[in-house]
Amino acid sequence: MTLAAKNQIESADIVFMGIMNKVGEHAVRKLNPNSVSLDDLYQDGKSRALTYAQMTDRIVQAVVEGNKVCAAFYGHAGVFVTPSHEAIKRVRELGLSAKMLPGVSAEDCLIADLGIDPSKFGCQSYEATQFLFRDYRIDPYMTQIIWQIGLVGEASLSVLDAKHNKPGLALLTEILLEHYPADHELIIYEAPTLPILQPDIQRLALRDLVHANTNLVSTLVIPSLGLPAYRSDRLEKLGLTEQQVINYRSPSTN
Ligand SMILES: C[S@@+](CC[C@H](N)C(=O)[O-])C[C@H]1O[C@@H](n2cnc3c(N)ncnc32)[C@H](O)[C@@H]1O
Repeated sequence: MTLAAKNQIESADIVFMGIMNKVGEHAVRKLNPNSVSLDDLYQDGKSRALTYAQMTDRIVQAVVEGNKVCAAFYGHAGVFVTPSHEAIKRVRELGLSAKMLPGVSAEDCLIADLGIDPSKFGCQSYEATQFLFRDYRIDPYMTQIIWQIGLVGEASLSVLDAKHNKPGLALLTEILLEHYPADHELIIYEAPTLPILQPDIQRLALRDLVHANTNLVSTLVIPSLGLPAYRSDRLEKLGLTEQQVINYRSPSTN
C-alpha cells in the first residue's frame, strides 16, 4: 500500500477489509485494530451482485452513522471492485466526501514480473466473461490482459471456485484461434500475495488453454503478435515517410 493509504487506514474510526488474505488482514489490523473483514458476506451459491450490494451498504451505513470510514480492498481498490466505486458514489450523493486512493493492482504486478511495458504494443485489458458475452474486438497486435479467467463463462455470479470454467475456456480458445496461431504462447499469471512467494507464471500454447490450471486469482496474458504495419496513408497526410519515422526512432540518429 502507499503511504497515503497507510495513513488513511491508521486514522479511520473503522476499516472495512475486502482483502481475501489473512496475512493482509493482519497487516491492516496492526495499523488499526478496529478493522472488520467483509469476507463473511461471500457464500457459495449466493450472487456476488448481492454480496457487493451488502458490502456497499455496510460501508455507507458506517459513514451515515458519523464515522470516518476506510474501506481497504486488495490490489487497487478501484480495479474490478464494485463496492468501492458504488460506496463512493452513494456517499457523495448524500453530500458527504469520499475519495479513492490508488493501490498496486494485479496488472501492475504482471507488468513488473513479466517485463511487459504497455507502451510497446499497446494493451487491451478486460474481464473474461464480459468479453465472451458481448461483441468485443481483439487487436492481436496489442498485449491482451484478460481478468477473471478462472470464472470465464460463469453467468450466475454465484460460483466461488474455478472448477466450472472449461466450457468458457473452450469458447475463448475458439475466438482466440480466429486471431492467433494454435501454438501462440499464452501466460497464466498469478502475482505473489506474500513477500516470501514467487510469481506463478505458467506458459502454454493457445491450443492447450482449455486444460490450463486456473484459479480465482489467475490472469491470462496473451502476448502481442508483434507491431502492426505502418499506415503509409496516415504518414503521408502528416508529410512523413515510413523510413523517416524509423530513422527518428532509431537511437543512432538521436
Ligand atoms: C475481483 S478482481 C480484483 C482485482 C484487484 N482489485 C486488483 O487490483 O488486482 C479479481 C481478479 O483480479 C486478478 N487477480 C487478483 N489477484 C491476482 C493475483 N494475485 N495475480 C494475478 N491476478 C490476480 C484475477 O484476474 C482475478 O480474477
